[in-house]
Amino acid sequence: MPQIPSSARGARFIGWGTSLGHRVVTNDELTASMDTNDEWIRERTGIHRRHVGGSTAELSTISGQIALDMAGIDPKSIDALILATTTPDRTVPATSATVQNALGLACGAFDVNAACSGFVYGLVVAHGLIGVGAERIMVIGTDTLSRIVDWTDRNTAPLFADGSGAAILESTKGSGQLLGWDIDADGSAEEILYAEVGSTIQMNGKEVFRRAVRIMVDSAQKSMAAAGVTTEDISIVIPHQANIRIISAACDRLGISMDKASISIHETGNTSSASIPLALFGDFGQVKPKDGDIVLLVGFGAGMTAASAILRWNAQ
Ligand code: UT7
Repeated sequence: MPQIPSSARGARFIGWGTSLGHRVVTNDELTASMDTNDEWIRERTGIHRRHVGGSTAELSTISGQIALDMAGIDPKSIDALILATTTPDRTVPATSATVQNALGLACGAFDVNAACSGFVYGLVVAHGLIGVGAERIMVIGTDTLSRIVDWTDRNTAPLFADGSGAAILESTKGSGQLLGWDIDADGSAEEILYAEVGSTIQMNGKEVFRRAVRIMVDSAQKSMAAAGVTTEDISIVIPHQANIRIISAACDRLGISMDKASISIHETGNTSSASIPLALFGDFGQVKPKDGDIVLLVGFGAGMTAASAILRWNAQ
C-alpha cells in the first residue's frame, strides 16, 4: 500500500464544473421500450430520472470550461489534461485531444479508461504529475453510456446515463489535499461487465453488486490506512453512484452513516467516470465539503476496478 512521502509536493482544487446529457429521460418513459416500471427502478436502484445526449467531447468541454472560468486562469497555464472515460468519441485520437483543442489548452492530453473508477484514477495520476513538477492539471470524468446501451434491455438501460465533471488542480506550498489513495483492478472478473468494441453493455448485475460492496469497502480501508485516518475522521463520502443499495451496504460495512454520503443517483443515474465528480461538484449531491473536512472518494467499475482517495478539503 503506497504512502505519500512527507516531502511530496501537494495539490488542491482551484476550480470545477459539471454538465449533464441534454435530455431528461424519466423512468415512465422507459416503459415504452421495455418491460419495467417506475416503482421497480426507484426501489431497486434509487434512480428517478437520468440525462442523456451529447458526445463525450461536448460534455467534457462544457464542464472543463466552467472549471476554467471558476479558477479564473489562462487555459494555456494547464500542464496536462487527463480525461477519464469509457466512451471515447473515436478509437483514435483520444477524446482528450478534441477537448484540449476546444478548451484552448496547450498541453499534453490523454484518456484513462478505468470505467467508473476512472475519475479517481485520474486524480491520483494528476497528483503524481504535480509531484514531478507540473503546476496545474485538469482532470475530467465523462461518460456517454446512453450510446452503448441497448434501449430495449431492462437489465442495463434503466441504469446508465450521460454526464461530466471536471476539476483543476494546482500545486501547493504545503502537502496539499491528498492524504491517501488506492487503485485496484481484478481482470479475472472482466466477463461480468463488458462491452465489445462497437457493441452494447453486457452485465451480470447480481455478481457486480456482490463484488462492488466488497471492493469499495476494501479500497476505502486501504486509503484510510494509507492516510492514517479512521472512519470516525471521515466527514463526507463521495461514492460512485451505481445503485443506492450498493452505497448503503458499503457505508454500513464501513461504519459510516448514510447521512455523510453525497447522493445524486436519483437525478443522474450511473454516469460511470462522471459519477464521483457529479456527486462532489454537481447540483444534486446534497452533502458538500467545508474547509478542513476529510473526504472519502470511492468508486468501483468494470475491470473490475476500484479506486479511492482521502482528501483534506481546501488544504494548502
Ligand atoms: O458501475 C457499475 C455498473 N453496474 C452496477 O453497479 C450494477 C450492480 N447491480 C445492480 O445494481 C442490481 O443487481 C440491478 C439493479 C442490476 C438488478 O437489481 P436486483 O435487485 O439484483 O434484481 P434481480 O436481478 O435480482 O431481479 C429481481 C427481479 C427479477 O424478477 P423475478 O425473477 O423475481 O420475477 C427480474 O426479472 O426483478 C426483475 N427485473 C426487473 N423488473 C422490472 C430485473 N430488472 C428489472 C427492471 N424492471 N428493469
